[in-house]
Amino acid sequence: MQPAIFKSIKEIVYERSGIDLKEGKAKMVSARIAKRLRDLQLEDDKAYLAFLKEDADEIVQLLNVISTNVTRFFREKAHFSFTESVVTQWLGEGQDKLRIWSAASSTGQEPYSLLMTIAEVIRKSRASCDFRLLGTDISTKVLDKAESGYYDAQEVDGIASDLLKRYFAKQDGGYQVRDSLRSHALFRRMNLNEPPFPMKGPMDMVFCCNVMIYFDTDTKRRLLTDVHRLLRPDGYLIVSHTESLAGMSDLYRPVQPSIYVKADAPPNLGKPGKASA
Ligand SMILES: C[S@@+](CC[C@H](N)C(=O)[O-])C[C@H]1O[C@@H](n2cnc3c(N)ncnc32)[C@H](O)[C@@H]1O
Repeated sequence: MQPAIFKSIKEIVYERSGIDLKEGKAKMVSARIAKRLRDLQLEDDKAYLAFLKEDADEIVQLLNVISTNVTRFFREKAHFSFTESVVTQWLGEGQDKLRIWSAASSTGQEPYSLLMTIAEVIRKSRASCDFRLLGTDISTKVLDKAESGYYDAQEVDGIASDLLKRYFAKQDGGYQVRDSLRSHALFRRMNLNEPPFPMKGPMDMVFCCNVMIYFDTDTKRRLLTDVHRLLRPDGYLIVSHTESLAGMSDLYRPVQPSIYVKADAPPNLGKPGKASA
């Protein structure tokens, strides 16, 4: 791909999604765009760039092919043990409503792992609780799969057999999330680069895992500020173990690696060194 074409595509992607394509990504972008060229019967990258500028909807297709959607059930075990203990505590205190946001939900493995975790706490404690999870992503392709709740046998590998039996039905060689669980999830397309987000809140927990790595500091800061607005007092923000809020924001206090609690009063934004972990 010619450097000038990569530069233009990089700028469009950044402007529309906040995804900061590094210089070394030109080969990857070119390979992924090749599929769009075939589908659209376009001659080359230059023709594709012209099409991208012309057709307002093409950005959605481009983000579908260039975004990295790798995910799996119960990806970071500590997140789910933390969720189990905090939900147990909240229900014990009489809380009867839970609102969770999976902010980059990809193909749904993170949302359904969270819903299984919460459903298990409720089942074991026999509490009654209205629990709902909002899953959002920029890619329509991954949202379609998340909404379908259908996974092949390899994908459900990370799910304990009792949970698999309770929350999935075997279907056509794969596994279908049962409606009893799926009915607690709602999936919507949403761009994390476009705060303020159109939800009311308050959210009890926000999972924003393995997505901020693609954003630059400004995009992260705007995102973290609006997540802070949506979180309830003492609500939790969970990121990936490979990500950190260090020096990013004073809006959160670390409680354990990759888990943050909403700080009471938002002090000055973004002063380096105030938040740790
Ligand atoms: C690597 S996956 C992470 C999935 C899951 N959270 C996990 O940790 O397993 C990153 C997801 O972020 C989504 N994404 C990238 N940029 C985004 C943006 N600006 N707004 C919303 N989602 C975005 C991608 O489409 C992709 O599905």
